[in-house]
Amino acid sequence: MLDGVFTPAQASRGERTFSDVCAACHDTGEFSGGRFRISWVGRPVGELFETISTLMPEADPGSLSPAEYAAIVAYLLQVNNYPAGDTDLPTNVRALGQLEIVSPPAQ
Ligand code: HEC
Repeated sequence: MLDGVFTPAQASRGERTFSDVCAACHDTGEFSGGRFRISWVGRPVGELFETISTLMPEADPGSLSPAEYAAIVAYLLQVNNYPAGDTDLPTNVRALGQLEIVSPPAQ
């Protein structure tokens, strides 16, 4: 299950950061649908968080705060149709490591 692991407000913050910082090089189509499934289903949310927070943005990796990276991950989960809930996605890598990315709900 990957239900209610982020809030709508967190995903909106992530959307803003994504368009400010990431959209120059990426569009969300790269991180949704079949491409998302092939890359991420079966892996923990923590790996997605660590990948983004240690490698991106390409010119200045690690330059955002943990909260900003978590919000971007929340946004990408929202783009993939996972339902939001009442609690923000944490920034704690160990907690994120407990959350397995299951197959996304149908769009
Ligand atoms: C200057 C261009 C640039 C910016 C800005 C940028 N990226 Fe990337 N990103 C790349 C390139 C090039 C790759 C593919 C090469 C690689 O994996 O290092 C990539 C790869 C990725 C991957 C796949 C990594 C993997 O191993 O599967 C993710 C996820 C990602 N970027 C997310 C982001 C996010 C989120 C942001 C904003 C915080 C961002 N990128 C900003 C250029 C960029």
